[in-house]
Amino acid sequence: MKRRPCIAGNWKMYKTVAEATALVNDLKPLVADVRTVDIVVCPPFTDLAAVVKATAGSNIAVGAQNVHWAASGAFTGEVSAAMLREIPVAYAIIGHSERRQYFAETDQTVNDRLKAALAAGLTAIVCVGETLDQRTQGATETVVGTQLDGGLAGLAAADMAKVIIAYEPVWAIGTGVTATPAQAQDVHAFIRRRLAARFGEGVAAATRIQYGGSVKPDKAAELLRQPDIDGALVGGASLKAADFAAIVKAGV
Ligand code: PGA
Repeated sequence: MKRRPCIAGNWKMYKTVAEATALVNDLKPLVADVRTVDIVVCPPFTDLAAVVKATAGSNIAVGAQNVHWAASGAFTGEVSAAMLREIPVAYAIIGHSERRQYFAETDQTVNDRLKAALAAGLTAIVCVGETLDQRTQGATETVVGTQLDGGLAGLAAADMAKVIIAYEPVWAIGTGVTATPAQAQDVHAFIRRRLAARFGEGVAAATRIQYGGSVKPDKAAELLRQPDIDGALVGGASLKAADFAAIVKAGV
């Protein structure tokens, strides 16, 4: 089954409103003719409204980099799914390794955030991935499997229509060391088997699994050719319109 690729840019904590608007205005014409790939940009919260406005009527969707599990409340510094939907934002990244590493994100909080995102109608990009130590110890599948089971706990098969999994080996994020296509494909195939065991073959065959970790224009095509790689979650290279556009086009 051929899945529609989804290429998402994770802008992390880069770009002011003015810079974000300029970046997306540069990107729009470069990808305007792309019809067969879902294109998403995920700027900081402060940029979301401006980027939604700048991308109106285009083929670029907008996502947040996080979303809280509660509808509202005393959660200083957090943003709810309803707040995102009102802008309106369509996607949210959940459980990025930087959230796990620096902000005490756990599989439980990933699961809580995911349920709130889905209830509000957001499409979620749920991130999983092992550290270098874990890979060296041969624990990649145990770690990724545990993150998947915990992160997706309590979901019904129908919920998976709005879930994208991003496999992002921590050792490949921001390091310039991309997983080889074979390394990535192995873990993607494992993830799909795990989804099949949990939700059935149909859901597993339909779920998109992105690769993330130092995806650059020259690496993208070979990664995206792998049978179980259905897109990319792109950090550094998404901050340059030409590079991100080249990665999107590698998915066409
Ligand atoms: P990178 O980041 O492309 O800069 O490695 C990927 C990510 O963190 O999503």
